[in-house]
Amino acid sequence: MALAKLSDLLEDAQKNRYSVGMFVMFNLEMLHGLISAAKETNSPIIIAYGEMAEEQTSIRHFSKTVLSMIEEAKVPIGLHWDHASSLEVAQLAVDSGFTSVMIDASAHPINKNIEITRSVVDLCKPLGITVEGELGCVGQGADYDPDDYHYTNPDEAKFFVEQTQIDALAVAIGNSHGVYPCKPKINFDVLEQIRSNVDVPLVLHGASGIPKEDIKKSIECGITKINIFTDICLEAMERIKKTVQKDKVSLEMIEEDVIQGVKAKTIEKIMLFGSNDRSK
Ligand code: 13P
Repeated sequence: MALAKLSDLLEDAQKNRYSVGMFVMFNLEMLHGLISAAKETNSPIIIAYGEMAEEQTSIRHFSKTVLSMIEEAKVPIGLHWDHASSLEVAQLAVDSGFTSVMIDASAHPINKNIEITRSVVDLCKPLGITVEGELGCVGQGADYDPDDYHYTNPDEAKFFVEQTQIDALAVAIGNSHGVYPCKPKINFDVLEQIRSNVDVPLVLHGASGIPKEDIKKSIECGITKINIFTDICLEAMERIKKTVQKDKVSLEMIEEDVIQGVKAKTIEKIMLFGSNDRSK
């Protein structure tokens, strides 16, 4: 059986000092690309879906296809809901067969963040579903300013993990979602302080566009799950742009660009994160 629990994937990564890639997808072509990459590299991966995709693809239906493809993949794959905004959304993930949920209440003050996150933990833990929470503000790349950035406070991180009983913590250490308007500045001191204060696996969001050396150093400093979305989309888009220049273009050619673009970029990330040949 290929469907894997996030906590099992991250436990092995933490023990053996590598990172598991989490890749966001919202259609069949991206899904094919991700699963082929995992199979070809014999790597565990986490396939993620989020609220923004609900308009394009109703997950109640799509999850059946996703789960059946995961079952046949023969490498361990987690199905993760990324950035759930409420308990109701977390419930949808549970009902749709997800093996983990990220509840993102990081825009709230810490006490409210704890209350919302804890409610999702209370829902998911008895069902064996792994929960990731976030503290600090990762935010969007367009607003990124390394000199005006809301880092995760390492002392609050300890309190947050104790109070919520989450299984994994998403940290704000100079990372941001989407395309960075300038070179990202990762604060490894903050990361090391968080790492020494909490035991749970740490998660790096917004990893597209972070230089390779910084990704490697983040893994050395204790990051065990790395989230990617923008880079796989950009690779697919580059290929589509070339295809549409051709005289004869078909929809199948565009679909193939998405499959192959997502696959190639995912393989590159898997090799960088060191999760290749870790499938058991
Ligand atoms: P990027 O789009 O920057 O790769 O971030 C993905 C992510 O963190 C999803 O949660």
